[in-house]
Amino acid sequence: MSSTATTQTRFEELDRYIDALPDRKGALIQVLHVAQDLFGYLPQDVQMHVARRLNIPAAKVFGVVTFYSFFNTEPRGQFTISVCLGTACFVRGSEDVLKEFEKQLRIGRDQTTADNLITLTTIRCVGACGLAPVVMVNDRVYGRVSAKDVASIIDDCMAQGGK
Ligand code: FES
Repeated sequence: MSSTATTQTRFEELDRYIDALPDRKGALIQVLHVAQDLFGYLPQDVQMHVARRLNIPAAKVFGVVTFYSFFNTEPRGQFTISVCLGTACFVRGSEDVLKEFEKQLRIGRDQTTADNLITLTTIRCVGACGLAPVVMVNDRVYGRVSAKDVASIIDDCMAQGGK
């Protein structure tokens, strides 16, 4: 299947979801979550499509997408490494962990490696403060992470990459 056909299929699936909504008013965030699951992120054409289909101004959609940190407007790597900078993690050194990831991956915060394997980002408290400092790799939680653990977390991603 070509990537165009895949994109077409994703738009069709999104439309089916929107068409099945009992009430489109107030469904924007819900629809954006579905769109992000389908496309992996929310590029401008997808945001415009959602605005048209929900019959709301595009500016409102852009506003919501930029307000909530869980929406992404750039493609993400296969793995998203999220370093918690919430208070408990911060006081236990998560900023040093973040700096070590930046150094070893040679990317900054909210950037993706050239091979599209890893996106590095930060989060605020995931409710696992007892394990501080916390790093998440997609849905997996790593606790009590120090700068010396960074290489092995990256190695784990590389070992699983492409699977
Ligand atoms: S502050 Fe990091 S998990 Fe709560």
